[in-house]
Amino acid sequence: MNERAWKTIIEPFKVKVVEPLAFTTRAEREAVLREAGWNLFKVPADKVLIDLLTDSGTSAMSAEQWSAMMRGDESYAGARSFFTLEAEVRGLTGLKHVLPMHQGRAAERVLFKATGGPGKVFLSNSHFDTTRANIEATGAEALDLPVPGALDFGRPAPFKGDVDLAALDAKIAELGASRVAMIIMTLTNNSLGGQPVSLANLRAAREISKRHKVPLFLDVARFAENSWLVKLREKGQADRTPTEIAREAFSYCDGCWMSSKKDAFVNIGGFLALNNDALAKSCRDEMILGEGFPTYGGLAGRDLEALAVGLREALDEHYLRYRIRSIEYLGDGLRKAGVPIVEPPGGHAIYIDARRLLPHIPPQGYPAQALACELYLTAGVRSVEIGTLMFGRRGPSGEVLPASMELVRLAIPRRAYTQSHVDFLIEVMADVATRAKDIKPLRLVEAPARLGHFTARLEPAVAEG
Ligand code: F0G
Repeated sequence: MNERAWKTIIEPFKVKVVEPLAFTTRAEREAVLREAGWNLFKVPADKVLIDLLTDSGTSAMSAEQWSAMMRGDESYAGARSFFTLEAEVRGLTGLKHVLPMHQGRAAERVLFKATGGPGKVFLSNSHFDTTRANIEATGAEALDLPVPGALDFGRPAPFKGDVDLAALDAKIAELGASRVAMIIMTLTNNSLGGQPVSLANLRAAREISKRHKVPLFLDVARFAENSWLVKLREKGQADRTPTEIAREAFSYCDGCWMSSKKDAFVNIGGFLALNNDALAKSCRDEMILGEGFPTYGGLAGRDLEALAVGLREALDEHYLRYRIRSIEYLGDGLRKAGVPIVEPPGGHAIYIDARRLLPHIPPQGYPAQALACELYLTAGVRSVEIGTLMFGRRGPSGEVLPASMELVRLAIPRRAYTQSHVDFLIEVMADVATRAKDIKPLRLVEAPARLGHFTARLEPAVAEG
């Protein structure tokens, strides 16, 4: 007899270790924000009540992961922990060479050093900010080709993370295959709402990559969440396990890299995996220069162990059902409170559409950053801007060229917060939304040219009082 399906989906774990939350007063938060130059990356974490800055490296590891850490082999070369991780990654991805990396951007730097350079172009459903920055740092160009409708944030569609296949094919034909370094599919598409990529889209992108002889790489920071969303949303996938779906996704690539700080729950870690022997050799040579010997890649042996366990736990069905439902639950609550969000909710975060909530603030007034700061001032909740502060460019005379979106991302660390934290968030955000028209624009005081949002200083554009 089948198990009864209960309506309430519970957290599929119990808590063994707790950390207190940091309560602050409004006056403290005002002082903190002024000191931080209205940049939430500069706010000390012990002045944050609920930290939704990122789901990266902020998850709770399991008892199994902590136990595995004790088995870490800390040998410099050929550690047992490396072979454990290698077997796990090979089993999952089917890829031959496994290079541990301390995090996603290290893999990006190593891979693009070997494949980028002036004149080269990378084509993607959307590059994440560090991906784009690492490509551009080699002198190459990163082009986003999201599926039509992906930027129509209010309109739901099941696979807004897909790449625009016609545009991809046309762009390769226009540039000539020799200029295209690779196709990158980001699972899920973090920059555009954590939206999933369908297997059908991956399969078709693979066909294009083969026809033009251009390699296809996957950025798989959130491959398990992508697999669950495929199971829920793609025709014919409902009866497959997330592991089967993930394996099929990996079967379409020549290589992949993972910031394992996301779906694999680890606080630090990642890997690059690929089939091409010559490319693997140049990547290993490069990693020795900056990351470490190729069997540890800037990580401790214990980190490799925790990562190997995390890759398996990420695909657990009880966990994924709860994970994706908990994101949707936050989306339901915000929608009911009249807060415009990227529809439908994706895998790891809810993205608030600040352009719609704050139509009175133009992109040059950083509406999403202004909203994120208001959320912090109201209740100590930290989120992140994905808009003109993160992705805006400078025109020839220094003017701000707006990004194509103004979003505030509420990224949910895995297994760390409970439903009452989410209920609290909904209450706070509903309150902020009722005061949306009073939120003031910000002005940029200073920012470096590359990845400026991490260190920028801002201030209210309209004098207070
Ligand atoms: N690719 C994607 C899709 C990412 O989301 C990230 C990081 C990276 C690559 C880089 O990995 O941080 O380990 O070096 N995203 C984090 C975020 C920072 O908040 O979304 P990393």
